[in-house]
Amino acid sequence: MLETSTPTSSSSSWWRRWWAIVINYHHHRRWIPIFTNFLSTHKTFLVALWLAFFFTVFYWQWDIATGGLLPFRRTFPSRLFPKLRPVVFNLTDFGAVGDGVHVNTAAFEQAIRAISRLRKRGGSQLNVPPGYWLTDEKYWHLMPPLPSYGYGREHPRPRYGSLIHGQNLKDVVITGYNGTINGQPQTWWKKYRQKLLNHTRGPLVQIMWSRDILISNITLQDSPFWTLHPYDCKNVVIRNLTILAPIFEAPNTDGIDPDSCEDMAFSDLVIRSMVSAGISIGSEMSGGVSNVIVENVLVWNSRRAVRIKTAPGRGGHVRNIIYRNLTFDNVRVGIVIKTDYNEHPDAGFDPKAVPILEDISYSSIHGEGVRVPVRIQGSEEIPVRNVSFRDMSVGITYKKKHIFQCAFVEGRVTGTVFPAPCENLDLYDEQGHLVKKSISHNISDIDYDF
Ligand SMILES: *[C@@H]1O[C@H](CO)[C@@H](O)[C@H](O)[C@H]1NC(C)=O
Ligand SMILES: *[C@@H]1O[C@H](CO)[C@@H](O)[C@H](O)[C@H]1NC(C)=O
Ligand SMILES: *[C@@H]1O[C@H](CO)[C@@H](O)[C@H](O)[C@H]1NC(C)=O
Ligand SMILES: *[C@@H]1O[C@H](CO)[C@@H](O)[C@H](O)[C@H]1NC(C)=O
Ligand SMILES: *[C@@H]1O[C@H](CO)[C@@H](O)[C@H](O)[C@H]1NC(C)=O
Ligand SMILES: *[C@@H]1O[C@H](CO)[C@@H](O)[C@H](O)[C@H]1NC(C)=O
Ligand SMILES: *[C@@H]1O[C@H](CO)[C@@H](O)[C@H](O)[C@H]1NC(C)=O
Ligand SMILES: *[C@@H]1O[C@H](CO)[C@@H](O)[C@H](O)[C@H]1NC(C)=O
Repeated sequence: MLETSTPTSSSSSWWRRWWAIVINYHHHRRWIPIFTNFLSTHKTFLVALWLAFFFTVFYWQWDIATGGLLPFRRTFPSRLFPKLRPVVFNLTDFGAVGDGVHVNTAAFEQAIRAISRLRKRGGSQLNVPPGYWLTDEKYWHLMPPLPSYGYGREHPRPRYGSLIHGQNLKDVVITGYNGTINGQPQTWWKKYRQKLLNHTRGPLVQIMWSRDILISNITLQDSPFWTLHPYDCKNVVIRNLTILAPIFEAPNTDGIDPDSCEDMAFSDLVIRSMVSAGISIGSEMSGGVSNVIVENVLVWNSRRAVRIKTAPGRGGHVRNIIYRNLTFDNVRVGIVIKTDYNEHPDAGFDPKAVPILEDISYSSIHGEGVRVPVRIQGSEEIPVRNVSFRDMSVGITYKKKHIFQCAFVEGRVTGTVFPAPCENLDLYDEQGHLVKKSISHNISDIDYDF
C-alpha cells in the first residue's frame, strides 16, 4: 500500500507567481500553440524525421523576418480543439494526409511558416488531428554541440538535432489531448548499439534559449536519447505529461533533463525510465539550475527517480529545488545527488570551477519497492548544503541498513522519516525543535554495491 498524505502548503510566493504566468498565457497576445495529437507507426525513420521537421520550422520562426499573411490563411471552427489564438490552422488545409503513407514534409513546412508569420498579429495555432503524419528526411540536421558541453556527449563535435526542436521561442504551447509523440527510435538504438552512429543521438523534444513555454497534456514516448530537454530557458511549465522512456537497451533516455534553466514548474507527471532517471538535473548544468518545483510526480519501473549530478569543473549552481509529493514505485535509487560525475569533453576544464549545491527540499515522498531510497554524495570540494526532508516513507526491497546514504551533506530532517536518515542531518520534531544535532556533516556512507 502506498501512503498518501497532505503535502505542505503550495502557497510559497514564487509558486503563486508561476500560476499567474500560466493564467496570463491565456491573455497573452503572442501565443503560437502547436497541437499535437498523432500516433505511432511502423515507419520508424519517417516519423522521426517528421518530427525533425519542427526544428527547421521553429528556427525560421526566429530567424526569418515576418512576411505578410499567406494567401491560404483560413480559420476552422473546431469542437475538439480549444481555440487559443485568433487564427487556427488545420494541418489538412495544407494538403497533409495522416494515413501513414503520404509524406507531409511540404505541408508541415507551409503550415509552420504560416503560423510563424502571424506571430506579431496575436499568434496562431496549428491543429494536428489524430493520424499518422509522416515526413521524409529532408530536414534531418546536425547541430553544433551545446555551448556549455563543448562536445556532443557521445561523440565529439556535432550532434543530431532533436526530433522536435525549438529555439529562441517565446510564448509557445505544445499540448494535445494526451496524444502521443512517439520518437520511433528503434533505428537509432540499433545503430547506437552497433556503434554505427558518428554523432550523438538527439533528444525527443529540445527547447533552447526560450521563455514562457508550456508543455502539457501529452504523452512522450520512446525517445532516441533524453526525452525532454529544456536548455537555457526561463519560465517553463510542464504539466500533466506521461513520459514513457524505452524499456531496455537505450542508455541515456532520462525523462526530463532541466539544464541551465530557471523558474520551472513540473507537476502531475507520470514517468517511466527503465534504464535512466525520471527527472535529472545535470551533469551538464553549467549555466545553473534554480527555482524549480517538482510536484505530484509518479516515477515507476525506473532506475533512478529524481537526480542531481555534477562534478568539479562544471561551475554554476543548483539551488532552490523543491520536490514534493513524489511517489516511487519499483525504483532502484529514489533520490540521488552525485558530485563526481566526471564526464568532460577533454582535460581542459578548470577543476576549481566547483558547482554550488544548496537549498534542496524533499517533502511528502512515498513509495514502495525502492532499493536505495536516498543517496546524497557530496564531496569535500562540493558539499551539499541545506537539504531538508519532511514526511517521507518509502518501502524498501533489499537491505534495511545503509540505504539512506550520505556524504558531505548538511541539512535537516523534520518529523519522522523512513528509512532512518543518515547521521549527517540534524533532527527536528514536527514543531521545529531541534532534537539531535548531527555529529558531522562529513560522514561518508555511500555504497554503490546495492
Ligand atoms: C481538420 O480537417 C479534417 C479534415 O477536413 C477534419 O476531419 C478535422 O476535424 C479538422 N480538425 C481540426 C482540429 O480542425
Ligand atoms: C491530464 O490530461 C488528461 C488527458 O488529456 C485529462 O483527462 C486530465 O484531465 C488532465 N489533468 C489535468 C490535471 O490537467
Ligand atoms: C495518456 O496516454 C498514455 C499512453 O497511452 C497512458 O499510459 C496514460 O494513462 C494516459 N493518461 C491519461 C491521463 O489518460
Ligand atoms: C559514419 O562514418 C562512416 C565512415 O565515414 C560511414 O561509413 C558511415 O556511413 C557513417 N554512419 C552514419 C550513420 O552516418
Ligand atoms: C489540459 O487538460 C486540462 C483538463 O482537460 C485542461 O483543463 C487544460 O486546459 C489543458 N491544458 C492545455 C494547455 O490545453
Ligand atoms: C500527489 O501526487 C499524485 C500523483 O502522483 C496525485 O494523484 C495526488 O493527488 C497528489 N496528492 C496531493 C495531495 O496533491
Ligand atoms: C534552506 O532551503 C530552503 C528551501 O529548501 C529555504 O527556504 C531556506 O531559506 C534555506 N535556508 C537557508 C539558511 O538558506
Ligand atoms: C567538513 O567538510 C567541509 C567541506 O568540505 C569542511 O569545510 C569542514 O571543515 C569539514 N568538517 C570537519 C569536521 O571535518
